[in-house]
Amino acid sequence: MNHILLRISNLSTEFKTEKGVFPAVSGVDLTINKGEILCIVGESGSGKTVASLSLMQLLPASGKIASGEIWFEGRDLLKVKKKEMSQIRGKAISMIFQDPMMALDPVYTCGSQLIEALRIHNKISRSGAFDKALELLKHVGIAHPERVMHAYPHELSGGMCQRIMIAMALSCSPRLLIADEPTTALDVTVQAQILDLLKKLRDEMHMSIMLITHDLGVVAEMADRVAVMYAGKVMEEGDVRSIFRNPQHPYTQGLIRSIPHLDQANEKLYSISGAVPSINSMPEGCRFSPRCPDAAEICSRQEPQMFPTGGGCRARCWKSDPAWKEGEAG
Ligand SMILES: Nc1ncnc2c1ncn2[C@@H]1O[C@H](COP(=O)(O)OP(=O)(O)OP(=O)(O)O)[C@@H](O)[C@H]1O
Ligand SMILES: [Mg+2]
Repeated sequence: MNHILLRISNLSTEFKTEKGVFPAVSGVDLTINKGEILCIVGESGSGKTVASLSLMQLLPASGKIASGEIWFEGRDLLKVKKKEMSQIRGKAISMIFQDPMMALDPVYTCGSQLIEALRIHNKISRSGAFDKALELLKHVGIAHPERVMHAYPHELSGGMCQRIMIAMALSCSPRLLIADEPTTALDVTVQAQILDLLKKLRDEMHMSIMLITHDLGVVAEMADRVAVMYAGKVMEEGDVRSIFRNPQHPYTQGLIRSIPHLDQANEKLYSISGAVPSINSMPEGCRFSPRCPDAAEICSRQEPQMFPTGGGCRARCWKSDPAWKEGEAG
């Protein structure tokens, strides 16, 4: 049996803008089991980052969690005190971001930043932290850790900086690592190395990873389970095999169809027409209906709930409603 590490239910997050208050994430349910990699995938603007920042309670000032529960190790994180949350952030949940160069401070050496991170979270001396930093750098596959300790971020490659960010994120031995597009800023070979590293660390440290990406290739490579997000909602979720072999939601089907294949070099690439709606102009009914090739009359009128689609998977689509299927059969 799987053991749940994190359970998010009915999470809604809204932003105050000049035009009013609008939800960027609406009624999201997600679970992550211990030792599992959950990929959150969806086009730009679908709410992936807002969902993860809500979980970490690191939203910008204009953002607010309007409702929901975030259960982590027996506590609802939305009910714990600020101080306690910052301890959880430092010790149990860590996060790495898209652009490692931006996340590191250019005026300090990598070593002093890593030592600082270690000393915030662990009661250790400077020299103890130095040794631990070297160990962590080796752990994340850095061949000459002493040299890297004395280097400034701009002296290192993007891939190297991301390894250092990962080392920092691991400095507190988190149970959950949230990685928001951790390889998007890196070139393809380095991207593969970083993803391999994350997998290796998951296996060795038995941590869970919430990996955010818009790249289904990354999902296929990394995920145990997938949640497909669109316009602030989870549209489909399930284990990675079922989702790729037998996607039920037209949005997931479209995303999968848009993956380029080597053998279609001369064919035109498929893409879903249109774009993700902005938060102040969400369509009525199913949010994907204006772009959906299979949309029926009900779809633009009434929003579907999540329907079980077999094997523990679920899809937010009227065509997955058992009543719909009966209607089609009859
Ligand atoms: N500070 C903000 N103020 C107003 N709206 C915001 C703010 N941050 C995000 N949004 C809106 O919330 C929605 C979700 O944004 P989010 O950044 O979570 O998307 P994403 O799925 O992470 O996209 P990407 O793949 O580009 O990173 C978008 O419509 C975005 O414009
Ligand atoms: Mg994002």
